[in-house]
Amino acid sequence: MITHAEMPELQQIKDRNLTVLKLEQRSDFVETQHVKKIAERAVSYLKVGYPVHFSGPAGTGKTTFAMHAAQSLGRPVMLLHGDDEYGSSDLVGADYGYRKSKVIDNYISSVMKTEENMMSQWVDNRLTTACKYGFTLVYDEFTRSRPEANNVLLTILEEKLLEMPKSRGEEPYIQVHPKFSAIFTSNPEEYAGVHKSQDALMDRMITVKMDHLDRDTEISITETKSGLSHKDAKIIVDIVRDFRQLGVDNHRPTIRACIMIGKITAYSNARVKSDDPVFREICVDVLNTDTIKIMKGGRALTKEYIYDVIEKYCKNTKKERSIPTTR
Ligand SMILES: Nc1ncnc2c1ncn2[C@@H]1O[C@H](COP(=O)(O)OP(=O)(O)OP(=O)(O)O)[C@@H](O)[C@H]1O
Ligand SMILES: [Mg+2]
Repeated sequence: MITHAEMPELQQIKDRNLTVLKLEQRSDFVETQHVKKIAERAVSYLKVGYPVHFSGPAGTGKTTFAMHAAQSLGRPVMLLHGDDEYGSSDLVGADYGYRKSKVIDNYISSVMKTEENMMSQWVDNRLTTACKYGFTLVYDEFTRSRPEANNVLLTILEEKLLEMPKSRGEEPYIQVHPKFSAIFTSNPEEYAGVHKSQDALMDRMITVKMDHLDRDTEISITETKSGLSHKDAKIIVDIVRDFRQLGVDNHRPTIRACIMIGKITAYSNARVKSDDPVFREICVDVLNTDTIKIMKGGRALTKEYIYDVIEKYCKNTKKERSIPTTR
């Protein structure tokens, strides 16, 4: 979070209970060539003034890329999560209750004067705040909000104008601050509670299609997050990627499974070996999820099958090491 000394307008924002984030590069952020290329593309689009949308299946790094790109812009960040319950007032703001002010007359101690101002008070929400002060908006899973709620974004992204509700009683439009940027994420495959995002909105942003991270990046992430050796991280990633090919829903297991297996293996002091019973059980628990229960051939995923895959990749590394180097 940023401090008020850094930005005086933050006191006002704090009064409205809106959290403004100041992002710093995470120490466990992995920047391989693959990651660097995607991030650079996205940041250049943002710097030219275009909103960027990371779209892809679960666990492909959308939120991480969005936060990383936001951090690269160096502006304060407002984070929003798409929500089915949202109306546009949740994004823009609304009239909240009544302003009540109390005046206590100190000179005549016996008299206490109470004055009530019965005007309803307009309170800006995150989108308005980001537009006014030129913050970076990260709108995660934006398609989970109803299209009507997101409609307000159309003029913001195109005309750089934020249309305010009539009830607010002031000017109908607010000019969007030139430093305002917007980054979106969505999962097009997720259907539960997701509305087909409006074409007009999509047309105003640049969509960077995300797929699973490449093998080297997955290995680096697993190694960094678990503290295991590069060789062990490689075996874990290969096991998980093998299962990703098998499942009916072939996006799972994701990089999250690699991180889980890696972290628990390190915590349990287990060895990444096919004959280590603890490692085998960790793999069974993490991989044996409903999403990959039935394989493409219709066969059930058995423990024995998982053991065979573990064996295959643990063996492979032995072979790799025993290949003689010839000049
Ligand atoms: N470059 C990276 N460096 C380090 N960790 C990463 C990187 N990219 C992704 N991860 C890790 O991979 C996991 C999945 O990433 P993330 O949450 O960004 O995916 P997502 O596409 O937003 O998934 P979902 O659709 O489920 O929200 C997280 O644990 C995240 O920390
Ligand atoms: Mg996400």
